[in-house]
Amino acid sequence: MPELQHTLAVEYLKKTIFDRATIKNHSRPEIAGEDHYKTYPEVEKIPLPVDWSLQEARILPLLQKRRSLRRYACRQLTLNDLAFLLWATQGITARVGAHFLRTSPSAGALYPIETYMVINSVENLQAGLYHFAVRQFELEKISCDINGQDAAHACLDQDFVAKGNLMFFWTARLRRSMAKYGERGFRYLFLDAGHVCQAAMLAAEAIGCGGCPVGAFYDEEVNKLLGVDGENETVLYAASIGSK
Ligand SMILES: Cc1cc2nc3c(=O)[nH]c(=O)nc-3n(C[C@H](O)[C@H](O)[C@H](O)COP(=O)(O)O)c2cc1C
Repeated sequence: MPELQHTLAVEYLKKTIFDRATIKNHSRPEIAGEDHYKTYPEVEKIPLPVDWSLQEARILPLLQKRRSLRRYACRQLTLNDLAFLLWATQGITARVGAHFLRTSPSAGALYPIETYMVINSVENLQAGLYHFAVRQFELEKISCDINGQDAAHACLDQDFVAKGNLMFFWTARLRRSMAKYGERGFRYLFLDAGHVCQAAMLAAEAIGCGGCPVGAFYDEEVNKLLGVDGENETVLYAASIGSK
């Protein structure tokens, strides 16, 4: 392992700094941008219900209670529970001009994070891989051939991943951030993903569940599972969610 100053991480951090002397000379990156929303036009859509009460989600007890949970009870989640988790992490809450703003903050309101779920046990939902269509507030069923064991296998065989009700995988669409911010935008992807994951953890507490963030996974295996190319879009973060 090289000394810290010779690592890729330090090189990257140094190459993407803002400093007072040069910030005004920063040119726009030559990276083509893309739309804020990804959808799968050809697949089955499942509209998400909105029958939850926000009274449940009082923030202080949720912060106090949150603990990474890796042992789950057998209770199935409802589609409404899942809808609440998705709304809490990426739901649209306001419109300002042309921008739709969401529950989690995002650098430049560019929302580079996409949400996928490997569903194991949610009422009235076939097990498999789904994508959250943010603007339509619906699920897109991508494949029923992927299960919790596949997810666990790609996450360094961490057993608890297969035992939760579902596993979130959060990817980043690099162009959304890097078309505006260049190399520095790469930093923001990780920060955005962190916000989304913490919102998921607190929302899970609010519905009597728990979650465990997962950063240990074989990147290429997860990307293959999700059907993303690892360049324009790549997995950054994941979390298992299960009932208590
Ligand atoms: C970026 C990140 C990656 C993590 N990856 C894993 C993981 O792959 N497996 C796991 O069991 N826990 C993982 N965790 C959970 C941490 O182990 C846990 O947050 C830490 O031990 C503190 O415990 P607490 O969350 O209960 O407060 C991760 C947490 C973070 C923030």
